[in-house]
Amino acid sequence: MPIEWDAEGRVLHLRNDRISCLLRIQEDGSLGHLYFGRSLAPARSYAHLSGGEFRGFGNRLGEPGRLEYPVPGGGDYRVPALVVEQPDGSAALRLEYAGHEITRGKPEIPGLPATYVEADGEADTLEVTLRDEVGGVEAHLLYTVFADHAAIARSARIVNRGDGVVRVRTAMSASLDLGDADWVMDQLSGTWARERHVVSRRLVPGRQSISSRRGSSGHEHNPFLLLRRTSTTEEHGEALGFSLVYSGNFLAEAEVDPFGSARVRIGIHPEEFTWTLEPGAEFATPEAVLVYSDAGIGALSDTYHRLYRERLARGPWRDRPRPVLLNSWEGAYFDFDEERLVQMATAAAALGIELFVLDDGWFGHRDADTSSLGDWFADRRKLPDGIAGLARRVEAAGIRFGLWIEPEMVSRDSDLFRAHPDWAVGVPGRPRTEGRNQYVLDLSRPDVVEHLDAVLSKVLSGAPVSYVKWDMNRVITEPYSVALPPERQGEFFHRYILGVYELYRRLTTRFPEILFESCAGGGGRFDPGLLAFAPQAWTSDDTDAVERLPIQWGTSIAYPLSAIAAHVSAVPNHQVGRVTPLSTRAAVAFFGVFGYELDPTALPDAERDEVARQVGFYVAHRELFQRGRFVRLVGPFDGDGNETAWMVVSPERRSAVVGHYRVLNRPSPGPARLRLRGLDPAITYDVAAWPASDDTVARLNRGPRGGDELMAAGLLLDATRGEVTARGDFQARLFVLEAR
Ligand code: GLA
Repeated sequence: MPIEWDAEGRVLHLRNDRISCLLRIQEDGSLGHLYFGRSLAPARSYAHLSGGEFRGFGNRLGEPGRLEYPVPGGGDYRVPALVVEQPDGSAALRLEYAGHEITRGKPEIPGLPATYVEADGEADTLEVTLRDEVGGVEAHLLYTVFADHAAIARSARIVNRGDGVVRVRTAMSASLDLGDADWVMDQLSGTWARERHVVSRRLVPGRQSISSRRGSSGHEHNPFLLLRRTSTTEEHGEALGFSLVYSGNFLAEAEVDPFGSARVRIGIHPEEFTWTLEPGAEFATPEAVLVYSDAGIGALSDTYHRLYRERLARGPWRDRPRPVLLNSWEGAYFDFDEERLVQMATAAAALGIELFVLDDGWFGHRDADTSSLGDWFADRRKLPDGIAGLARRVEAAGIRFGLWIEPEMVSRDSDLFRAHPDWAVGVPGRPRTEGRNQYVLDLSRPDVVEHLDAVLSKVLSGAPVSYVKWDMNRVITEPYSVALPPERQGEFFHRYILGVYELYRRLTTRFPEILFESCAGGGGRFDPGLLAFAPQAWTSDDTDAVERLPIQWGTSIAYPLSAIAAHVSAVPNHQVGRVTPLSTRAAVAFFGVFGYELDPTALPDAERDEVARQVGFYVAHRELFQRGRFVRLVGPFDGDGNETAWMVVSPERRSAVVGHYRVLNRPSPGPARLRLRGLDPAITYDVAAWPASDDTVARLNRGPRGGDELMAAGLLLDATRGEVTARGDFQARLFVLEAR
């Protein structure tokens, strides 16, 4: 995966056998962009790719063309990557090439999560230095090309080499000038309980963006953009992905210029951001991971899945099978004591569930969401022997113990707030807006991080805790830190996230055996930044099987199933009141990190048996669900959205599980077939329905079937009218394929 320097053409070529990225030092010293896409041959000249005249009015000002890291003030009126206010108040920059360096491996970004390598041979990194000679600002652009991922990781370091103090107003992680604007932009958008639905639009002249300014990546938009051709499908065609390894305010934007080319930029949101750089100081942007696919959206997802599962997530839990858990939240809410929890844990253990998680309500005197956040000591009314006493009894019942925490928050009614009112985010002299009766702790302050580290370490070291669910249930309002001087308030949001990462880093390093799951009111911070610390995330507070289809589908475009926590909950569902079959709830939740979110002592006998079978099935196929290749077959955003289908395939393609879901049953459906993908055409698979069934569909699909046939002709979905009538709404079918 060499990075080549063509000294004559002044071209840098980053390549592996799937992608190429070409940069060129232009005549005026600026760093131009030539190409990002399918792999091009090494050892050739590509300088001519920069050709073409810039037309129109701008021509008189010189030719900005396609740039790697554009700045304002020099005749390029498109969105900039870098804006730095000089000591004299001006913001015009002229960035010129000052050198480059190519190294083996991949350096860390100080204080920030990022993809990594385990051996230097896995990647090469290019660092290009651009300098503004007049003011002394330098932009160091970092590009890592991996040996076997169709991805380039980009970030920038802004250094003040001048004599005066400068203020960084915009510093994007990546900017990419595309040769044309003939793209559809897909984004993952929604709100609480319906996160990451796929929303698509064609690029049009002007700016189109998604963003967050809430202090977290947010439920509303994921820090991810996908561009695809109109003809691109899951299997075919070009797609470009832009993913930001960051958990705070972000902007992802595409601008189409009057000449029909497009610029995409992604990074920290420039609004409500400034960073002061004293002489000699520097600022590091988060990392953006750019992926190219010429084999459809599916192949783009494959790249993100493997890269994020294997080289973003870290720690011992990265590669370990994740336990099937039962979370107490929807089963008990705040209404429990030690006896009830031990009964729930015992009942869960009897079903084969491996981990019992005590959710909210165990600390301070918290009987509702109105108090006690910040008081991280057990409520002795409910837990007379504390967390340690409970955890020991849970473990004695034959199941591991996990605990919910919400470190970044403080309730107005809490000892912590009474002792340290200034630790809560807010502007002195102004009212603070409450969200869920709570305030956000100022994690931009090292003393607050220190305190949380100490109290949480005490909780986690004082009891056999195997798992932590780290929640974050409100967004930031009145952003301000009393610990920062007025001229540095624009740094607050980013410093907050750096504080979150620091706390995560300390706790995950001190407790490497604890599995961390991130959560923010469900999926409000489901981003690559947190995946670097917590290898799985609570995908959504919506546990309804039907609602989960679009949520999990959308999430899977950028994130691996090993990150997507999915639970079976009771009916009527607590978010939408829908009653779906238990089998359907499991058939959806299997495609992720599986668990339950209900009171197992309240299950009727028949359901208890069914749950035990579900747990057994998942455990038997866990490797496939958590590490197999996920293939999206029929999408909930296609047509009327009534059908969804997907599958997981083992790396050697010898086993697979297929899920097909139909929301509303329809009369007279016809003999529809579901064509599979990703199998080995030469392998003969035994096909079986799960759970075993004797209906006609199960029977007609059962038996040895060639991979070629399953991909070309597919599985039969409906057979007889009687069976169609009997099925009812919200049905799922699972098929298990094993190589003979
Ligand atoms: C958030 C989480 C839930 C649960 C509650 C507890 O909403 O997403 O899973 O933990 O908080 O208050």
